[in-house]
Amino acid sequence: MKKNLIRSYVAIFVATLSVVACTKKEDNSNKILLGEYGSMTGEVANFGQSTHKGITLAQEQYNAAGGFNGKQVEVKLYDDQSKPEEAANTVTKLITQDNVVAVIGEVASSLSLVAADVAMRNKTPMLSPSSTNPDVTKKGEYIFRICFIDPFQGEVMAKFAGQNLHAKTAAIFRDVKQDYSVGLADFFKKAFEAHGGKILIDTAYQSKDSDFKAQLTEIKAKNPDVIFIPGYYNDVGLIAQQARSIGIKQPLLGGDGWDSQDLVKVGGAALENTYFSDHYAPDTTEPTAVKFIASYKAKYGNETPDAMAALGYDAFFVMMDAIKRAKSVSREDIKNALAQTKDFQGVTGKTTINAERNAVKSAVVLVVKDGKPKYFATVEP
Ligand code: PHE
Repeated sequence: MKKNLIRSYVAIFVATLSVVACTKKEDNSNKILLGEYGSMTGEVANFGQSTHKGITLAQEQYNAAGGFNGKQVEVKLYDDQSKPEEAANTVTKLITQDNVVAVIGEVASSLSLVAADVAMRNKTPMLSPSSTNPDVTKKGEYIFRICFIDPFQGEVMAKFAGQNLHAKTAAIFRDVKQDYSVGLADFFKKAFEAHGGKILIDTAYQSKDSDFKAQLTEIKAKNPDVIFIPGYYNDVGLIAQQARSIGIKQPLLGGDGWDSQDLVKVGGAALENTYFSDHYAPDTTEPTAVKFIASYKAKYGNETPDAMAALGYDAFFVMMDAIKRAKSVSREDIKNALAQTKDFQGVTGKTTINAERNAVKSAVVLVVKDGKPKYFATVEP
């Protein structure tokens, strides 16, 4: 009896110790520790993987050049598996256990939206490289991004459809599971109609669906001039294939969510002569970008960086630029410094953070030719 009692006391003591150990904050005084959460696996694994490659390259270059006041910058990465619950969990861990000064992430807007609530509650700066849904930074004063937002991107593609492709009518095929897709579909619709165009059909699918033929058949029957599909690359590849297989010949258009090596891997020839808006063109001649592309290819087996890699790279340097200007490395001072970011020259253009904590940048339109996205046009804000 007594022995049992002692045993349970010991058990409670050990359990308490391990809880204390788990929730104890890391001491990072000998380094600068940033957090990164991203989709390294799951539905949109390309997003996290590319972003991480860009961030890692930037971090190596930054540390090789001396780091921050003699301290090395480390980036603690967690995989959120492309899942909202995991985005919340990983950011909680980064902030409360790893004790990072700021977090970089996510790509997919639905995940950034969830994580932003956590960052706001914990008063920790979060910098999204590439989430374009306007609501992300509306979460509050600690949430920033270095890319344009979807009202602009919708306008870019609506104008492009009207002016370059002479489209008077359009169909929209949206992914109702993604905040990004729903938002961008709405903004495209508004802009296309404002320019005098007509939306003949606005229909939907859900991420991870694999048979799109019913909706595509309906779209085909309406005979629109163009079809706007603001989805993510994996679904879009399949949609393009099935559209061509049922005889849809019209131009397919999309947004930055199309950007991935896997787009053409999945969609193949069905994607030839399709167009999408993006943050950067892989065949750019802009000097900062050309230098980045060369060092990226050297590090990653001659792989051409996509927009997520470019934005991940820029996000790291924008973050360090803010930390350098900050009064201290406290989360609040870093937040204040991020808000003051002005004319920061990166691979994806100049970043100035505006009053809404967004960056105002130009977009490019890419066309898929011979299995590769190529520069087609630049659209200024
Ligand atoms: N903008 C997309 C979103 O908000 C993510 C994305 C950015 C995808 C850049 C590809 C390239 O969900």
